[in-house]
Amino acid sequence: MEFNQVFPLVLCIFCFSSVDSRPSFFSDFQVLQKPHFRQLSEISLNPSPAPEAYPPTASSPAASSDDSAAIFDVLSYGAVGDGVTDDTLAFKMAWDDACHTDSGILFVPNHYSFMIQSTIFTGPCKNGLVFQIEGTIMPPDGPDSWPKNYSKRQWLVFYRISGMSMQGGGLIDGRGEKWWNLPCKPHKGVNGTTILGPCDSPVAIRFFVSSNLTVQGLRVRNSPQFHFRFDNCHDVNVYSLYIKSPSLSPNTDGIHIENSSDVRIHNSIVYNGDDCVSIGAGCHNVDIRNITCGPSHGISIGSLGKQNTKACVSNITVTDSLIKHSDNGVRIKTWQGGFGSVSKVTFNNIVMDTVRNPIIIDQYYCESKACKNQTSAVYVSDILYTNIKGTYDVRSPPMKLACSDSVPCTNLTISEVELYPAQGQKILDPYCWNAYGALESLTIPPVFCLLEGYPDPDSLPVNDVVDQC
Ligand SMILES: *[C@@H]1O[C@H](CO)[C@@H](O)[C@H](O)[C@H]1NC(C)=O
Ligand SMILES: *[C@@H]1O[C@H](CO)[C@@H](O)[C@H](O)[C@H]1NC(C)=O
Ligand SMILES: *[C@@H]1O[C@H](CO)[C@@H](O)[C@H](O)[C@H]1NC(C)=O
Ligand SMILES: *[C@@H]1O[C@H](CO)[C@@H](O)[C@H](O)[C@H]1NC(C)=O
Ligand SMILES: *[C@@H]1O[C@H](CO)[C@@H](O)[C@H](O)[C@H]1NC(C)=O
Ligand SMILES: *[C@@H]1O[C@H](CO)[C@@H](O)[C@H](O)[C@H]1NC(C)=O
Ligand SMILES: *[C@@H]1O[C@H](CO)[C@@H](O)[C@H](O)[C@H]1NC(C)=O
Ligand SMILES: *[C@@H]1O[C@H](CO)[C@@H](O)[C@H](O)[C@H]1NC(C)=O
Repeated sequence: MEFNQVFPLVLCIFCFSSVDSRPSFFSDFQVLQKPHFRQLSEISLNPSPAPEAYPPTASSPAASSDDSAAIFDVLSYGAVGDGVTDDTLAFKMAWDDACHTDSGILFVPNHYSFMIQSTIFTGPCKNGLVFQIEGTIMPPDGPDSWPKNYSKRQWLVFYRISGMSMQGGGLIDGRGEKWWNLPCKPHKGVNGTTILGPCDSPVAIRFFVSSNLTVQGLRVRNSPQFHFRFDNCHDVNVYSLYIKSPSLSPNTDGIHIENSSDVRIHNSIVYNGDDCVSIGAGCHNVDIRNITCGPSHGISIGSLGKQNTKACVSNITVTDSLIKHSDNGVRIKTWQGGFGSVSKVTFNNIVMDTVRNPIIIDQYYCESKACKNQTSAVYVSDILYTNIKGTYDVRSPPMKLACSDSVPCTNLTISEVELYPAQGQKILDPYCWNAYGALESLTIPPVFCLLEGYPDPDSLPVNDVVDQC
């Protein structure tokens, strides 16, 4: 953030009636006392009464203790938390202070709902910053309430932050319904059509050009668009999130990562209307573990290569997960005409419950149904499917490996896959197109359509790929 104005600290005497009512979270931390002048970004506000320092308690560490943290409670900066008042300014001020303090804690207390506008929280910050959410945070309610001059593509953005943790037992409520009902959204127009018109909808939480992040424990619901987006980030830990949106809410991916590496997404539950987790171009070293998805569109790598772009994705593991009542299970989707590669992907120990397309590679991905076949494609290789069991929705075959005509998939390995029809006895045959690979064990249903060995090396863009990725 830019600093261009100077204000006295906004102080609040009414924020806490008693120390005892504060969550135990506070007990180990030093209480903030900063009666000095401070600088703020693009902010002007009326002076408020001074906050009282929390009285020291027996359990408080000595104020001089080096490893104690300072707490910056948004209420102390004038936030109201009635769900109606615009509390953006208080959050920005608390952010500025927490950001510039070692191990600062921006605290969002329980029993309040804070309405905040689209905001970019900018670093760099001091080490160990914590964004502790115990209450509810929400944006304005829908496109008509969104200020005209604010981005409609993102709500809360964290930019150039390193070493931050966003956590707590609170709720992030994206209030997406009015966005999903825009006539431009799929099937939302008159008679189920999509009508052209402004369609931008905000991603709820975006981390951009950031590293060493942990996001854990939060509940996030009803995002207007993706719930989380991490782009150009590295060292990202996402643990124990609970994400929930209606199954028909358009484009509400749970967690989307793009151009990011060393990402762990563990122990989370996602119900939504689009991909549970989606992995875009430029992602490497991603570990997805113990996720429950569904209803959703499953866990996707892609879509990649749209409009002849390059995509490089490698070393992705999805393991110990459950996918239920979803349009797809584990999917790799690429557009015709892209280039680059997807390689070294493992899908291991995944239970499917009534899933359409439990295992799918779709190199003909197309949103409009009017895409032409092209001669280049993102090259898919070294993909392992192992221990994938459960049931499939009989509207689609349980395995569909539709590789590019011009660039075959290579080294697909299938091992211990057992997929049964969720309804009836009818077993659908797996589908393969230009897919090279091997079975390591018998599968149910049996796969006879894989091409053995390797294709003619001249037909592979291998050397180009190595140069490209
Ligand atoms: C939008 O306009 C309001 C009112 O003029 C102003 O206070 C605010 O700073 C503007 N926000 C942005 C992001 O330009
Ligand atoms: C990551 O951030 C934590 C604090 O959140 C800090 O203790 C740790 O040193 C950081 N690690 C790196 C590699 O910067
Ligand atoms: C919607 O359907 C109704 C009844 O079938 C029809 O009269 C109307 O013209 C349709 N509207 C559009 C925009 O297609
Ligand atoms: C991807 O991230 C790297 C930094 O990790 C950056 O240099 C590059 O510009 C990013 N690419 C895109 C397309 O954003
Ligand atoms: C898996 O995640 C769930 C939450 O979705 C959690 O309750 C459970 O303890 C996790 N299991 C392991 C082995 O971590
Ligand atoms: C692959 O990613 C994992 C983390 O998911 C990492 O531990 C491992 O070192 C990576 N392998 C390579 C070859 O980079
Ligand atoms: C593209 O190629 C695939 C595989 O050969 C074929 O099934 C499909 O019909 C083609 N699509 C178009 C639009 O030509
Ligand atoms: C084929 O892929 C597997 C992982 O699925 C990998 O271990 C093996 O090295 C690959 N084989 C070749 C020849 O690259």
